[in-house]
Amino acid sequence: MENRTEVTEFILQGLTSDPNLQVPLFVIFLLIYVVTLVGNLGMVLLILLDSHLHTPMYFFLGNLSLVDFCYSSVITPKVMAGLLMGDKVMTYNACVAQMFFFGAFANVENYLLASMSYDRYAAVCKPLHYTTTMTTKVCVCLIVGCYACGLLNASIHITNTFSLSFCGPNVVHHFFCDVPAVMVLSCSDRHVNDLVLIYVASFNIFVALMVIIISYLIIFITILKMHSGAGYRKAVSTCASHFTAVSIFYGTIIFMYLQPSSSHSLDTEKIISVFYTMVIPMLNPLVYSLRNKEVKNAFTKIILGAR
Ligand SMILES: *[C@@H]1O[C@H](CO)[C@@H](O)[C@H](O)[C@H]1NC(C)=O
Repeated sequence: MENRTEVTEFILQGLTSDPNLQVPLFVIFLLIYVVTLVGNLGMVLLILLDSHLHTPMYFFLGNLSLVDFCYSSVITPKVMAGLLMGDKVMTYNACVAQMFFFGAFANVENYLLASMSYDRYAAVCKPLHYTTTMTTKVCVCLIVGCYACGLLNASIHITNTFSLSFCGPNVVHHFFCDVPAVMVLSCSDRHVNDLVLIYVASFNIFVALMVIIISYLIIFITILKMHSGAGYRKAVSTCASHFTAVSIFYGTIIFMYLQPSSSHSLDTEKIISVFYTMVIPMLNPLVYSLRNKEVKNAFTKIILGAR
């Protein structure tokens, strides 16, 4: 056995080292985080308070908002502290915790979006059986399944990453403890761990994306067969928000995968990461509230009721 000293902390390189950009970026991320917080927690409250929103679709949406808020909170405050106060130290345990919670919430979101497209499929394609398909029991099982998959993803990734030895250097070339950025710092042989990372990540995305693509194919065919009219408009309007949310989330992931690894300049990678760790959680409540009559009505009612 060599006598190697293990690192006890990591240093996050952060977004940029340009001193002129620290404060402007801090202000931008502060705004993003405030909108994320107000939008998502507001959505959760609205759904809890308004009994018209006690349907499967809004039950899932409430959970999606909660998860968006949580996963942004795992990343954004630390990034802001880095920008404002230069606080870039992550203890070993904090790094494990950040990777765990980010992995858990990101994967819950992944499977929630899949469950929601199954819900849209049931609503549009089997409207007469909707209440018997999406029963409370089915919804609760789906949600519990999503959270279980999240925990499983997180557990696999932290075990896989932190079973490696880290004997320095300890500068993570990223703004959070992302798996690949931490793994490259290891001084052990990473062959198997690299494979596990790729297989687990691809498996999760593949399964969810298949459910979504198949649901939407059937939804599109059903909608095309409707000869316009009220049913057509209703189907399109109930699917539009979710379809937008799904496109943004998987669009970003696919864009990330398609970057040729040679041109993986750290900057593009960081910009894409900013998008999916901090911007997407802010967009979901906007996507769902701006075009959605039920949400707008519930909001107006609460505001008027409060006066
Ligand atoms: C699973 O967890 C890892 C580790 O934190 C994370 O990078 C990844 O995005 C998660 N997978 C999915 C599909 O969200």
